[in-house]
Amino acid sequence: MNFELKALSLTGAAAAKCDLLVLLVPESFEAVQDPLSSLVDVALGHGDWSKAAGKQLPLYKADGVAARRVLLLGAGSGSVRDVRMALSGAASALKADGVKHAVVCLSALVDSASIMHVAVQCIADAGYAYTLTKPQAKLAAIAKVSIGVIDKRANSTLFEQAVAITAGQSLAKEWGNRPANHATPTMLAQAAKELVKHDNIQCKVHSAKDVAKLGMGAFLAVAQGSREPLQFIELSYTGATNTQAPVVLVGKGITFDTGGISLKPAAGMDEMKFDMCGAASVLGVFRALAQLQPAINVVGLIPACENMPDGAAIKPGDVVTSMSGQTIEILNTDAEGRLVLCDVLTYAERFKPAALVDIATLTGACVIALGGVRSGMYANTEALAQSLLSAGEKTQDLCWRMPLDDDYAEGLKSNFADMGNVAGRAGGSITAAKFLQRFVGNQAWAHLDIAGTAWREGAAKGATGRPVPLLVQFLLDESAQAATKKPKKTAKPAAKSLKGSGLQAKAPIKAPQVEE
Ligand code: BES
Ligand code: MN
Ligand code: ZN
Repeated sequence: MNFELKALSLTGAAAAKCDLLVLLVPESFEAVQDPLSSLVDVALGHGDWSKAAGKQLPLYKADGVAARRVLLLGAGSGSVRDVRMALSGAASALKADGVKHAVVCLSALVDSASIMHVAVQCIADAGYAYTLTKPQAKLAAIAKVSIGVIDKRANSTLFEQAVAITAGQSLAKEWGNRPANHATPTMLAQAAKELVKHDNIQCKVHSAKDVAKLGMGAFLAVAQGSREPLQFIELSYTGATNTQAPVVLVGKGITFDTGGISLKPAAGMDEMKFDMCGAASVLGVFRALAQLQPAINVVGLIPACENMPDGAAIKPGDVVTSMSGQTIEILNTDAEGRLVLCDVLTYAERFKPAALVDIATLTGACVIALGGVRSGMYANTEALAQSLLSAGEKTQDLCWRMPLDDDYAEGLKSNFADMGNVAGRAGGSITAAKFLQRFVGNQAWAHLDIAGTAWREGAAKGATGRPVPLLVQFLLDESAQAATKKPKKTAKPAAKSLKGSGLQAKAPIKAPQVEE
């Protein structure tokens, strides 16, 4: 879908040529002298419609309006929540046959970053359809959406960011939705490699042999029960000088989680194809970075493999040695996410990251704790926690900070290894975070448990592409902060201004390579 930002007064909106005009009308709307205001007045006067959030009045060939179809859409208080509710309810109007170009007019709302993000996200959502293994699924005709605001210049950066974020989010959604036999570790690696066609992105995929040489005993242990070869994907985006410490993102890429020998129950097991949504969100972030080219360095690390029961699979009680040297007693083979992540967190140390953030569909317990509204967020530094919270608020991709008290680690004690991979049932999302924390030392680190937010159950079953918006916003905020901290003279020009000059930093961020 193509997005465009347009300066539109109400008079301008009435004159805009398109197949569908969606006009958001908050309670605060004051009618002036223009065709749209008259329509609103008449409809309200007859009691045919109200400005309550989500109320719709579809009109056809209305007087004085250039668009064939008009949708008056109540926006209630004009809050982010009301706008989201209204626009998600308007999806079927946007998807209707004959609607190729729609104008969504936000001009009657008060400008805010969250409103823009929510609007662009809802519209992109309406335009997305999963077709890979369902080719007859009906694709909406809509190809272009113009977003109308009063002040185009004031909104243009925000708009570009929101559009790039949805491009990344759609990529994450698509990979999340693909069944495990259409999204194997090898296919995920291929998707990562395809991102190098964009400026400033590199990709290296490490094989099982490389991973063995690195001593990643925990990651290898999970993969050993599968016929699909593991892939360790390493992406980098170089938007700043390579002396600037990168933000390292680590995404859990279990392309299918059966539980292994600690087999999961049959009911709902299909949903474990979503167990690579952390990895998919990293791919999505890189897609957005490719489009925005911010002045920041980012490394994306994805341990990708299946968790299968097999003659060669790990057994409960097996003890493995992680890359950090710490030994782990695998008491439950279904707690595999933390096993693949812990080795990659150790690997991340070599980048001396400015911040290390892992993203994982890690625990059912997090779904119980926070449901599908907010992702669980753990952080060992205050500043990082605040940055993630605020990035979530801005993009309305919310998270909630969870505790990391050492007392929560009690249950990880083992008689046969440095630690077990599970504690009791209580506080399961927290004990998983405490396990991961043992592999990050004193680095600034955060962990996002997205088990509840990465996909929806029920009739709307499917990946959400979260937390791509939160992560991209976090990176944009970090790059803006780095720019203000540095004296102007030494700051490298933003990558964007070098575009096409052949001067882009193509060298990968320095990291010791695996010896062959
Ligand atoms: N991928 C699951 C987490 C999960 C479960 C996400 C349900 C979404 C819905 C993870 O690998 C897992 O199986 N975790 C176990 C941990 C337990 C064995 C300590 C869980 O949450 O049950
Ligand atoms: Mn599991
Ligand atoms: Zn899992």
